[in-house]
Amino acid sequence: MKVKVIKGDITKLDCDAIVNAANTSLLGGGGVDGAIHRAAGRELLEECRTLNGCATGEAKITKGYRLPARYVIHTPGPIWRGGGYREAELLANSYKNCMDLAARHSCRSVAFPSISTGVYGYPAEQAAQIAWTALRKWAQAHREETPEEVLFVCFNDFVLEIYQKLLRQYGEQL
Ligand code: AR6
Repeated sequence: MKVKVIKGDITKLDCDAIVNAANTSLLGGGGVDGAIHRAAGRELLEECRTLNGCATGEAKITKGYRLPARYVIHTPGPIWRGGGYREAELLANSYKNCMDLAARHSCRSVAFPSISTGVYGYPAEQAAQIAWTALRKWAQAHREETPEEVLFVCFNDFVLEIYQKLLRQYGEQL
């Protein structure tokens, strides 16, 4: 599986699935969640209402409606509480469960935001390392399967630099 690191707005991406850093209600919020709901339109919220929420680290999939992406995979990452409350494990679960759903829906490309590192306060460098490790683990356990490409979509230069460093360190092949 190949990794790309880009700077930009995830709602603009024309890939099979984009991931939403949601909350457990799945009924929208601020940050990337708000941007995705605004761009997708009200039908997204209507479908989300039928899902009965989602536990932290789990994931649920909907259609993309007015987004260029075909699907939205919603996952509530953990709220950072200092690191002693299974935050790392829950964050890794979010990445893994999103990949499982993407594979089940035959997505070839999946775009991830930096889950939990905005409103939820997860330190961005630690979160990026967890994201990379979780995706590598998934790729190694699912050789020959789709998705074949994941994109890390960085909304600001700070996060972009963190992911570019990981890309230099580990290369683009997971
Ligand atoms: N495209 C890509 N990344 C974005 C975009 C965008 N359009 N907008 C923001 N980001 P956050 P969380 C980045 O706060 O920490 C919501 O209210 C942002 O710069 O969106 O998981 C939910 O409903 C940061 O790097 O998500 C939850 O209540 C990253 O996305 C809560 O926030 C994640 O920031 C979830 O908090």
